[in-house]
Amino acid sequence: MTLRTPAVSALMAAALVAGPALAAPATAAPGSTVGADSLGDPYFPRQGNGGYDVRHYDIAFTYDPGTRQMTATATITAVATQDLSRFSLDFMGPTVSAVTVNAVAATFSRDDDKLFVTPKSLLRDGRTFTVAISYAGEPGPMYDPDGSIEGWVPTDDGAFVVGEPQGSATWFPGNNHPTDKATFTFRATVPDGTTAVGNGTLASQSTHSGWTTFVWESREPMATYLATVTIGKFVVSESTTAGGVPVYTAVDPRLAKRAAPMLAEIPDIVGFFSTVFGPYPFSSTGAVVDYAPEVGYALETQTRPVFCDVPSDAIGTIAHELAHMWFGDSVSLTRWSDIWLNEGFATYAEWLWSEHTGGPTAQKLFERRYAPDKKPFWDVLLADPGVLDMFSYPPYDRGAMTLHALRVKVGDEVFFRILKEWARSYRFGNATSADFIRLAERESQQTLGPFFDAWLYRTGKPTSW
Ligand code: ARG
Ligand code: ZN
Repeated sequence: MTLRTPAVSALMAAALVAGPALAAPATAAPGSTVGADSLGDPYFPRQGNGGYDVRHYDIAFTYDPGTRQMTATATITAVATQDLSRFSLDFMGPTVSAVTVNAVAATFSRDDDKLFVTPKSLLRDGRTFTVAISYAGEPGPMYDPDGSIEGWVPTDDGAFVVGEPQGSATWFPGNNHPTDKATFTFRATVPDGTTAVGNGTLASQSTHSGWTTFVWESREPMATYLATVTIGKFVVSESTTAGGVPVYTAVDPRLAKRAAPMLAEIPDIVGFFSTVFGPYPFSSTGAVVDYAPEVGYALETQTRPVFCDVPSDAIGTIAHELAHMWFGDSVSLTRWSDIWLNEGFATYAEWLWSEHTGGPTAQKLFERRYAPDKKPFWDVLLADPGVLDMFSYPPYDRGAMTLHALRVKVGDEVFFRILKEWARSYRFGNATSADFIRLAERESQQTLGPFFDAWLYRTGKPTSW
């Protein structure tokens, strides 16, 4: 098993309101035909690659949970955005045996978390090309700066697979930054009796001599960190929401009873959020409830959030992960420092679900968090929490509080128009905090600089806004 510990990136200190989306990659010399080996995200400066734009990933593999061995071929279709004599991919998976570009053998080398590819002939700017990578061995998880585990996490009957923010590179090569979204096909072959659950729609399932191949199609663009093919012995069930969205759920039989109430809410939650945030963005929904207790969190893997156990607040958590389909998955980050745009919105959606179902109102939930003066909670800068605090309370709860304060300031009608408009105008795209502020000012016809300054760009408890 490969265990990875990435270097902690330097934290960016300054407020980011007017800054460029991403810092210029360090290695892209003007006129060079070498693709940059970074997209310059301050939190994960090694993530992502320049010089091309991925359109589609086709990830085909066989995985044996008994031996934990994988044999895979990833075929990536991309468009060159400059002339390329060499380019890189993010990859921390097992041994690479061959790389081809446009079906011609290419030379390749690996350095830590990068795979460098030199095609036989120059790839011209604007042209579509295909790179196929064959690899085999034992994929494993990695650890984040905050100590959490992610990537390919083997379980007693398969693997729990999550990738926020870096782990997808443990099991497939790609352009691992949320700004390069693409469609996906997964072809997972696993022993009979085992189920492989990917994102999107199950296109086919076929069995030959003891092995079953599951083909999953994700037709809407997806960020690499949201990819999953979670494998195990599952009880599968399929239905349709009142609005006509197919629901596919898979649950570890050991958890089936405890998970039943949360899984039963999926159609209603998706229906309610569709009325509040606008149409559900994807052609399928559902969930996977697997048993991987060392993970300790759920992830909003696109169309099909994964849970490593039944959470103590199961309904709140499934509402949270389903809300990410709009906020995070469809409307994605441009840089990781804006994580409150994912976590604050999904947490606020939990509050709205609570309010809608007769639980505590959003106002009540706001007040509970506003009253205490707990220092660390107010000392994290929401616009730039740093890699260690990306998934700590402030981006979640203060993010939600920011939205509630905005709702109180502009009124319900304008506030819910802002949420819908946000989901609509950045659908399948990427956005920043500055984009949100601009949109909120436009919809409300108010100057909101001082408001967002107090909530996002300063530490300490806002007292007036
Ligand atoms: N985005 C997930 C959520 O909805 C949390 C992911 C945490 N990732 C991590 N590496 N700790 O809450
Ligand atoms: Zn979340």
